[in-house]
Amino acid sequence: MAKKVILDVDTGSDDAVAIIEALRCPDLEVVAICTVWGNLDVPYTTENTLRLVSSLGRKDIPVYMGCGTAMVKYLDGSRTPPVKENQPIIKDGKELHIHYQELEGLAPTDKKAEKMDAVSFYVNYLRASKEKVTLIPVGPLTNLGEAFSIAPDIADKVEEIVIMGGGDEIANVSCCAEANIWHDPEAAEIVARCGAPVLWIPLDATHSAALTIEDAKKLRELGTFAGDFAALMVEQRVEFESASIGGDKNNSAIHDALAVAAVIDRSVLTDVLTCNVHIGLKGFSEGETIIDRRCIPDKANCQFARRASKEKFLSMLCDYLGRE
Ligand code: BDR
Ligand code: CA
Repeated sequence: MAKKVILDVDTGSDDAVAIIEALRCPDLEVVAICTVWGNLDVPYTTENTLRLVSSLGRKDIPVYMGCGTAMVKYLDGSRTPPVKENQPIIKDGKELHIHYQELEGLAPTDKKAEKMDAVSFYVNYLRASKEKVTLIPVGPLTNLGEAFSIAPDIADKVEEIVIMGGGDEIANVSCCAEANIWHDPEAAEIVARCGAPVLWIPLDATHSAALTIEDAKKLRELGTFAGDFAALMVEQRVEFESASIGGDKNNSAIHDALAVAAVIDRSVLTDVLTCNVHIGLKGFSEGETIIDRRCIPDKANCQFARRASKEKFLSMLCDYLGRE
């Protein structure tokens, strides 16, 4: 029987690949997609999601629009202002983005988001559900932070929460924080404490399975819309990152798609630590996933992936994205 999942996305180039992978995998039943702010403002992450599911011929998938900013972070003006992650880079006179406001290659759609908001959807759906559901949040955790605050009882209906976020030895928006967690640290801490099983897919794992331009070529050779579109996302990310980081960087971590892969087949993760993780809320540690490293640590509250198999990840993408 297919595993029921709910995706929570800020679509976004790598979110888009994650959505395609989930919708094309016969082992998953995507019951809904919730959208959130993050890579772009939430109206854009929502519109990109609506266009993508429509382009995949899956207008039947309900899309719920969620929160537009962090739960508490920006209330008193004392915290770091939002990172403009999506600053373009000019290369050879061309403006490059890692997440285009309107993802390229997707036709406009008449599909609209559902009338209910994402937070209400989580509470209503999970309370009514007879089965446990796996949640795959791959953007800031604001929707789930709100939902668990309103209705902590819904944790009993959650099979597992597989979060793309955090980092142990790798960070991307501050000296020690990854973007999804840094955007809404309080929401992430609420999710970390919710009581449902949590698996972190941090930067350590996603970077270890980064895809190259040659891998994008393999996706394009599948000859499907899904393969072509994912190839374009990989190429745009590599182009942007090599222009911004410089040197000979020729790959890009397709972070969110690894979280979906881990739900489909856990063996894509090759090193997973069972440990206690909490989120830094202030100062230099804001947004950090802090692993308790004492000799006698606090009781484990999660699993934290440190490496993944790039070969297995790519072969899963080729398998699912090759299907019409
Ligand atoms: C995460 O942040 C976003 O930019 C990506 O979509 C991914 O979810 C990586 O830090
Ligand atoms: Ca994302």
